[in-house]
Amino acid sequence: MNTKILVTGGAGYIGSHTTVELQNAGYEVIIADNLSNSRIEVIDGIERITGIRPVFEQIDCSDEHMVREVLDKHRVKGIIHFAASKAVGESVQKPLMYYRNNIDSLLNFLEVMPVYGVKGLVFSSSCTVYGQPDVLPVTEQSPIRPATSPYGNTKQIDEEIIRDAIHAGHPYKSIILRYFNPIGAHPSAEIGELPIGIPQNLVPFLTQTAAGIRDKLAVFGNDYNTPDGSCIRDYINVVDLSRAHVVAMNRIINSQSEPIEYYNLGTGKGLSVLQLISLFEKATGVKVPYTIVGRREGDIEQIWADPSHANKVLGWKAVETIEDTLRSAWRWQQKLK
Ligand code: UFG
Repeated sequence: MNTKILVTGGAGYIGSHTTVELQNAGYEVIIADNLSNSRIEVIDGIERITGIRPVFEQIDCSDEHMVREVLDKHRVKGIIHFAASKAVGESVQKPLMYYRNNIDSLLNFLEVMPVYGVKGLVFSSSCTVYGQPDVLPVTEQSPIRPATSPYGNTKQIDEEIIRDAIHAGHPYKSIILRYFNPIGAHPSAEIGELPIGIPQNLVPFLTQTAAGIRDKLAVFGNDYNTPDGSCIRDYINVVDLSRAHVVAMNRIINSQSEPIEYYNLGTGKGLSVLQLISLFEKATGVKVPYTIVGRREGDIEQIWADPSHANKVLGWKAVETIEDTLRSAWRWQQKLK
């Protein structure tokens, strides 16, 4: 019998790509998702890629009763916890919703995992915990900075909750993955990012503009202290990112991991907004009309990862090229159209 893994938020962007990679690696996946920010058709896309339909449980992970029921029913060995609200701007408008949603669900799992013999939890964190670092690239030892949004704060608080639970001797392990900027889609174009409403993130806005759905991409600022004045990020292919979750889960299942481990998941390379636009145009041959506007409040000027810890210890590395990644985003956009 294959080892069962619960993927919360498995119908979402990173969750669906991770489900594909877990199934390809031989795991049996149970998805728990309340579909608040995703669509049920994603499960069909996963099935078309892998030939396997993951079990789907429509539950709200912030409901303790439902969490217990799912763990009782499926007896999973590991949990990958993606389910969370993730829009920075919305979190400023609705902070209590973010604290309730992102913290309650984690507490529910940490409390009941020992009852059902779950060996460990892989947690979706973010490079947002580093704020604007003084020294680049950032390592896992770089200082954690005060969060600039309720969303960012929930990631910091969740990391602390996991650390404290494990420090107190809870009988499970955790691997905390700090994502840089995941972009792109599965090369099959069967799954990808499904922004609901106006996209807040750069690449979905860019591909919608290229497709003519939006008039112009607004570049938020060209007066930063960077070579071309626009902000710099570490854009990582979503399939590469997803593969790191499989390696992390293998470590937990095979009892190779320390009680708690942290990894930066990035490419190690920073790209500016203007560079990304130009790379997209070269990779796809499609023009992206854009205009420079003022800075977006709360934006970090520049950040990119030192991924060497993940490279060494996990034996994982981001391998997809930025051109292929941008082409995958474009294929997905064309399919959505
Ligand atoms: N940008 C634009 N125009 C847009 C959208 C974005 O110029 O229409 C710029 C932003 O100013 C930024 C870059 O593109 O410089 C990337 O912006 P995203 O919104 O795509 O990503 P962020 O780096 O702001 O946010 C991401 C995640 C968050 C996470 C954060 C941590 O979306 O969940 O990284 O820094 F908290």
